[in-house]
Amino acid sequence: MSVLDMRDVRKVYRNGGDEIVALDHATLQVDHGEIVALLGPSGSGKTTLLSIAGGLLAATAGSVVVNGTDITGHDSRALTRFRRDNVGFVFQSVNLVPFLDAEQNLLVVDELGGGKGGKAAKARARQLLDELGLGQRRRNLPAQLSGGERQRVAIGRALFNNPRLVLFDEPTSALDTKIGEQVMELIRTEMKARDTAAVIVTHDRRMTHFADRTVEIVDGRLVLDGTSPFGPRLLTEPHEPAAPVRRDEIDELLVVARFLLGPARGTRLIHDAHGLLASALPPLPRYEPADRGRVVGRRGRTPSAGG
Ligand SMILES: Nc1ncnc2c1ncn2[C@@H]1O[C@H](COP(=O)(O)OP(=O)(O)OP(=O)(O)O)[C@@H](O)[C@H]1O
Ligand SMILES: [Mg+2]
Repeated sequence: MSVLDMRDVRKVYRNGGDEIVALDHATLQVDHGEIVALLGPSGSGKTTLLSIAGGLLAATAGSVVVNGTDITGHDSRALTRFRRDNVGFVFQSVNLVPFLDAEQNLLVVDELGGGKGGKAAKARARQLLDELGLGQRRRNLPAQLSGGERQRVAIGRALFNNPRLVLFDEPTSALDTKIGEQVMELIRTEMKARDTAAVIVTHDRRMTHFADRTVEIVDGRLVLDGTSPFGPRLLTEPHEPAAPVRRDEIDELLVVARFLLGPARGTRLIHDAHGLLASALPPLPRYEPADRGRVVGRRGRTPSAGG
């Protein structure tokens, strides 16, 4: 039996009158303890796929079974509980609570589950931090840790509830190559030691040798649209950070917020944040049809989006 079984998943984002097909006929099975690298260009739907696999987002169509539970029809409350007990998430960078130290960042998981950060939870947090080579750093705030150490704390947090599946969204892209490889090595060791499956999104083909299998999101499954608040910049500069605020960092923060607050409050926050960002950021360049040709292998819009 697979720990993750996604079949024919489709995800359509609606932006005003436009539809953005982020995933279409996405099918992915991951076995127990298997490590899968998920590769694909910027905007190809990788984060969307992870979010659906982990119950952060609902699919528009298709089925998602995690650890034997069909979460396709779950309401947001059931999904929140399901995530807490079954899935771990590790995001690229902005993912620790800045005013909590390393150990407290792990204990957040216990508290979300209704625990009180008691003795057993503290012992587990310490043991995990020890295993991850952070025994001496447990009282450090995220700002007092290196990038690699922060990422290790995030891995500890993801493993805290002993999930059968951990989803990693570009866990190494903010790290230099050497530290990135160490983190990937650690991820592999920790997952294999626990017989826990992982899906690891990466842009970096060099990281795929840490996985048992590599899956690529093929082109043509999504459509970027000019009215998307994030689309244009990514379309024309797929791999460059878009100053002054990186969209993926904001997205991660919001996904974490959604995870911590639950979909209802999280979605409101995302909505507010997008409004705030729209007024705080310089306007994004409009997506001109001429730009589309620069994106290798990507198809046009959906018929309903026009253009
Ligand atoms: N909340 C949203 N509303 C509208 N469109 C969205 C939303 N989230 C993502 N998209 C669009 O869906 C498509 C897939 O986005 P996604 O974030 O899954 O891509 P990705 O492969 O993770 O990209 P990257 O490598 O840049 O992180 C993109 O066209 C993106 O602009
Ligand atoms: Mg992404």
